[in-house]
Amino acid sequence: KTVSTDHFAILPSNQPTSDEIRDNILKNPGFGTHFTDHMAHVRWTNDAGWHGHEVRPYGPLTLDPAASVLHYGQEIFEGIKAYRHADGSIWTFRPEKNAERFRRSARRLALPELSDEDFIGSLKALLAQDNAWVPTPKDASDECSLYLRPFMIASEAFLGVRPAHEVDYYVIASPAAAYFKGGIDPVSIWLSSHYKRAAPGGTGFAKCGGNYAASLAAQKEASANNCSQVAFLDAAENKWIEELGGMNLFFVYKDGRLVTPRLTDTILEGVTRNSVLTLAKDEGLTPEERAISIDEWRDGAASGEITEVFACGTAAVITPVGELVSEDERIRLTAGGDNEVAKRLRTKLLNLQYGRSEDQYGWLTQL
Ligand code: COI
Repeated sequence: KTVSTDHFAILPSNQPTSDEIRDNILKNPGFGTHFTDHMAHVRWTNDAGWHGHEVRPYGPLTLDPAASVLHYGQEIFEGIKAYRHADGSIWTFRPEKNAERFRRSARRLALPELSDEDFIGSLKALLAQDNAWVPTPKDASDECSLYLRPFMIASEAFLGVRPAHEVDYYVIASPAAAYFKGGIDPVSIWLSSHYKRAAPGGTGFAKCGGNYAASLAAQKEASANNCSQVAFLDAAENKWIEELGGMNLFFVYKDGRLVTPRLTDTILEGVTRNSVLTLAKDEGLTPEERAISIDEWRDGAASGEITEVFACGTAAVITPVGELVSEDERIRLTAGGDNEVAKRLRTKLLNLQYGRSEDQYGWLTQL
C-alpha cells in the first residue's frame, strides 16, 4: 500500500545545510543533537479538523505563552527511524504500528486522532526533502539512522483546563548513532526505591511527554549512581517489573524462555518489543508475556536460571543490561555474561531493518 504525499505543500529552505557540514554531522551524529533542514506540519482546529499540510524549513515555533501544552502538558510523541539500504533506498519499520499507538496516545490525552495517511504521509513528505540526511551504515554492526520524531501539541491560548480546540502536529528528524555511549556494552540500570513512573488508570501506556518528565528525577538518581537508565516497579504493589525510563525489558532463561512484562495500562507497548516477540519464536525461543517480579529477577540472576537481561526500544535497539543497582543491593547475573541471545536478536533485527535479509514479515515501508 502506498501513501500519497500530494496533500503536503512544500516550502523549501533557502538556507539548507552545506554538503560539507552535513557530511561531517553524519560521520558522528550522536543522538538527538542535530536536526535536518525541514519539518512537517499539520494544523488541527475544532471547526476545520486537520488542514494546512506542509513541509517547511526547520526552525523555532511561534507559540502563545498561554498555549495549553506549556501549562498542562497536553502533548504526545512518537519515535521511528529511517534506514538507508545498500542500494541507497530509504525505508522505515512498521510505521502503521507507530501511527496506531499515536492514536491510542491521542485518545488518552484528549487530542485529535491522526490518520495513517497523514502520519506516514508526513514522514514521506519530510524525507522527500531531507533524504540526504539519512546516514549510510559503515558495516553490519553500525546502527546509524535518521531518527524521526512526530509530536502533537495543544497550541490554543487558553488557561482553562479542558482539551484544546487548536492543535499542531509536527515531525522533526535527527541523524542518530547508538543511543548509549558504550554502543552494545551492557548498561547498568538503577532501581529507584521511591519514584514510580505510572499508575493504573493513568497515562503509562501513552507516549506522552508527562511520562518522561515523571521519570527524570529517578533518571537523575540513576546518573548520580553511574547508571544509564532507571527501572520502574509497579505503583500498586512495588513488586512487578514494568519498564525502563524509555525502553522495554526482556529476560532470557536458561531453558530458552524469553520473558517480558505483559502489557497493562502502565506499560508502553514498544514496536521493538512486539517485533522481538516475533523474532524470538523464529530463533527457537519461547516468548512469555506475563508479570515478572523483582524477586524473580534477583533469584533467577543468583541461581543462573536467568542468563541475560536486555532493554529494547526504537532508540536503544537491543542493549544488554549488565546489572540492576539500588540503594541496598546490586543484582548481577551469575550465569551467561556473553549476551549471546541479545546479540543474535539484535543482528536479526538490524539485518531486517537495513535490508540485509529478506523482509519476511512485511515490516518495511519505503519512504
Ligand atoms: C524511542 O525509543 O524512540 C523513544 O522514544 C525513547 C527515548 C529514550 C528516546
